Amino acid sequence: MRQSSLVVVANRLPLDDSAAPDGACEWRRSPGGLAGALHAILQQTGATWVGWDGTVGEARPLPDLGSLRLRPMALDEDETRGYYEGFANGTLWPLYHDAVESPVFDRGWWETYKAVNRRFAEAAAEVAEPGATVWVQDYHLHLVPQLLRELRPDLLIGFFLHVPFPPPELFMQLPRRVELLRGMLGADLVGFQRPQAAHNVAQLAAKLLGAQGADDAIVLEDRVVRTGAFPVSIDVAEMRSLSARPYVINQARKLRHDLGSHKRVLLSVDRLDYTKGIEHRLTAYAELLRDGLVKVRDTVVVQVAVPSRERVETYRGLRDRIEREVGRINGEYGRVGEPAIHYLNQPFDRADLAALYQTADVMVVTPLRDGMNLVAKEFVAARRDDTGALVLSEFAGAAAELEDAFQVNPHDVDGLKETLLRALSADPADLAARMAGMRRYLTDHDIHAWARDYLTTLSFSSQSRTASIGSAQSGPRIRS
Ligand code: ADP
Ligand code: F6P
Repeated sequence: MRQSSLVVVANRLPLDDSAAPDGACEWRRSPGGLAGALHAILQQTGATWVGWDGTVGEARPLPDLGSLRLRPMALDEDETRGYYEGFANGTLWPLYHDAVESPVFDRGWWETYKAVNRRFAEAAAEVAEPGATVWVQDYHLHLVPQLLRELRPDLLIGFFLHVPFPPPELFMQLPRRVELLRGMLGADLVGFQRPQAAHNVAQLAAKLLGAQGADDAIVLEDRVVRTGAFPVSIDVAEMRSLSARPYVINQARKLRHDLGSHKRVLLSVDRLDYTKGIEHRLTAYAELLRDGLVKVRDTVVVQVAVPSRERVETYRGLRDRIEREVGRINGEYGRVGEPAIHYLNQPFDRADLAALYQTADVMVVTPLRDGMNLVAKEFVAARRDDTGALVLSEFAGAAAELEDAFQVNPHDVDGLKETLLRALSADPADLAARMAGMRRYLTDHDIHAWARDYLTTLSFSSQSRTASIGSAQSGPRIRS
């Protein structure tokens, strides 16, 4: 087994298999913020990515992605149910997103979650060269930092949580809160999207583990664990260059024509997830149609909702409700050849997504809670001419950075309606100023800056941990 100086451990590999029209297996980039963000930097860095390819059963061999090696992990039926669908997405995901759906606590899931975390830790230990940096990602793998430290005390271990870390009163509901917290704090650096998360963890570490905590460091037994906010971003240069491609420009023109050249286009692009606020958005739009404040003859909605976690009951139920509602709205307000909403329940490749982003007059990103929401950043990066409006939920991590968006509380349907109308009728000069501001911000805060910032802080963390761990290691290099 070849070893690497940088190992990423994430539940999901950056590839999904998709059946080609002839039935052959094809690999494509998996939808979801984590894969998109890391895939962009690691292809050039030379690292190993330990993760799951999304299928149940044996792990299949995978091609390298540029200089990135993939180390597939197999999940059998019980593990998929107990670890991925169960504890990760039935307990932690809803709890970490403000409990917008009720989290389920199942003791059996916990045992499987622990066992799978152990297997991921063992795989990472196997592919990490002596003194390597191992970067563990997200809520699926909370226990890996501590398990890995026990197996390989020579490693520099980072953990990054892509989703929100909940307020202490919600985290305290978890029957296994002590183990989860201790597992995560096995890292040298624990990174979050927002500073509030680090504050929450410091409070919990003091209460549950008797640690001394501040918002940037926690002293736990004989170790110092650094913590901090590192808002994740996108490959801005990739999205910009995609958007300038003739194919994308032509495709955007064609989409515009097909949607109705005179119409204003409202676009949303989400994984089909109950945290994304799709139902609230549909309610707001239906009421605007009902009240005659928007008309099907001059405004159209495109809702892309890529299938996600489809074996989980809450996701299946959500899909049914959304499809019923889209059907109802189209039935009530659409006209022949002129639906109120185009609903696309399918994955798109990057170029087609870029074309969609260019087609929109208003991008509507209104999650009820979201760690970051990279779609909002992708939209901004794709707007080469500074046109277009971004309506953005206050509860998306991106809201702290994209201050020039039309920000909205998505729970407030009246406020949402009013904000959509404001964005639809905004003065082009105002829109251009807002878009230019957001584009400037993203130029300096792209995915490379994020990785550099995190990994540099991680390499400094090694110098501040206890002497028994050994001499300071240098972090991996990420291009500037
Ligand atoms: P999450 O991480 O919860 O999925 P984000 O908005 O942060 O949410 O990231 C979603 C990612 O998935 C983005 O990079 C987006 O481009 C991608 N994506 C969303 N919808 C699709 C789709 N239909 N096809 C392909 N990729 C998609
Ligand atoms: O960004 C949050 C996240 O949960 C990632 O960890 C994950 O890869 C992505 O959303 C998509 O979810 P899933 O991997 O369950 O399809």
